[in-house]
Amino acid sequence: MDWKSYYEAHTETAAAAVNRIRSGDRVVVGHACGEPSYLLEAMVDNAAAYENVEIVHMVAMGRAGYCAPEMAPHFRHNALFVGGTTRAAVAEGRGDFTPCFFSEVPAFFHTTLPVDVALVQVTPPDEQGKCSLGVSVDYTLPALKAARTVIAQVNARMPRTGGDSLVDVSEIDSFVLHEEPIIQLAPPKIGPVEEAIGRNVASLVRDGDTLQLGIGAIPDAVLLFLKDKKDLGIHSEMFSDGVVELAQAGVITNARKSLHPGKYVATFLMGSQRLYDFVDNNPDVYMAPVDYVNDPFVIAQNDQMVSINSCVQVDLMGQIASESIGYLQISGTGGQVDFIRGAARSRDGRSIIAMPSTVKGKTSKIVPLLDEGAAVTTSRNDADYVVTEYGVAALKGRTLRQRARALIDIAHPDFRPMLEEAYRARFHCDD
Ligand code: COA
Repeated sequence: MDWKSYYEAHTETAAAAVNRIRSGDRVVVGHACGEPSYLLEAMVDNAAAYENVEIVHMVAMGRAGYCAPEMAPHFRHNALFVGGTTRAAVAEGRGDFTPCFFSEVPAFFHTTLPVDVALVQVTPPDEQGKCSLGVSVDYTLPALKAARTVIAQVNARMPRTGGDSLVDVSEIDSFVLHEEPIIQLAPPKIGPVEEAIGRNVASLVRDGDTLQLGIGAIPDAVLLFLKDKKDLGIHSEMFSDGVVELAQAGVITNARKSLHPGKYVATFLMGSQRLYDFVDNNPDVYMAPVDYVNDPFVIAQNDQMVSINSCVQVDLMGQIASESIGYLQISGTGGQVDFIRGAARSRDGRSIIAMPSTVKGKTSKIVPLLDEGAAVTTSRNDADYVVTEYGVAALKGRTLRQRARALIDIAHPDFRPMLEEAYRARFHCDD
């Protein structure tokens, strides 16, 4: 059968497609802004047909209707990263959290998390019968390859991205044609604190560096202060609108990259329509699955690799908690450790954890001890630079005493006396 006949024969309604899901199945849902919202709504509408369906999802950007309390007999969420719409289900015991490095997720599909059904979103097929996974290749493509049944929402608004992001129509069992806007990420709010952090981080970035930028206001603030740099490159788990601005200003050229020169390398994308227009059919954008992009060994092949991420708390030893507030799981490890380890092995690499010194001016994010129950995301051995609006603390290769002193120097002045007291008690000294 030629691909066009196959495509036509396998096109059906959303209601028919989600009937392919059986009770007890494990369903892996496409990631972040690539989430197939229309299919998810149809699956939740069909909840009465299922018992005990496990929903594996990472960053959920949509409504996550499968997490509603009344859905408990039908669905159980297994979060690989917790977000705003899935936090309550995990906190209240109606969902589970699986700790993981993002780079390892595709391997789980062949070990602890075999995939029954993959729910994904793709572009319409091209002349050769290939669909692009667009903004989310990450674990979405590996889940598609591993699944018993693949159901795809075909959305003409999905940008067509290049690299290793294409699938043949024959790899998909069910096509549901539904056009709708791709989920967008609202631009972060950048105030004076973020600006000061951005300036401090920029002091650690050099011409020719290859950057990984985490999610949120801080990475975008950093980009604002990189306008006078030259020939920056991108090898990042994800990127957003800030990169488009610097690319169009000629600051990001990817020209000096030692791996994939000339290319923006990423595994997923989150931003506005401006970003999606930039990446659509852009031959310089190279998307690939997360077990490639986030593999520390691959990351390390970029000379001058600089990773920039954020966190919840740092203790005086340099242990970094980025995903939980005490016992409350608020996000996940994501690619933070993948990139910190990759950057550590890169020639002239650096990794930066950047954060405001306080939580809304009320409590210090630099603390003598992490809150009880907090998960350490980045160990003290991996920690390199920590940056706040008050400066830069260089931790790698430094003693516990030197680290504590450097961290107190970048804490909010209101909390320095409390930290000094903890320092003196711990190290039995005044200096
Ligand atoms: N104590 C109490 N509450 C805290 C806190 C602390 N030490 N630190 C943060 N919070 C609260 C914030 O006030 C905010 O609450 P709100 O939602 O009620 O406003 C919430 O936790 C989220 O914190 P915020 O700083 O606004 O989040 P962010 O969007 O800037 O993201 C991380 C920061 C650390 C959560 C995020 O970077 C993350 O998940 N990192 C781990 C994964 C990672 O680095 N991936 C890298 C590649 S994408």
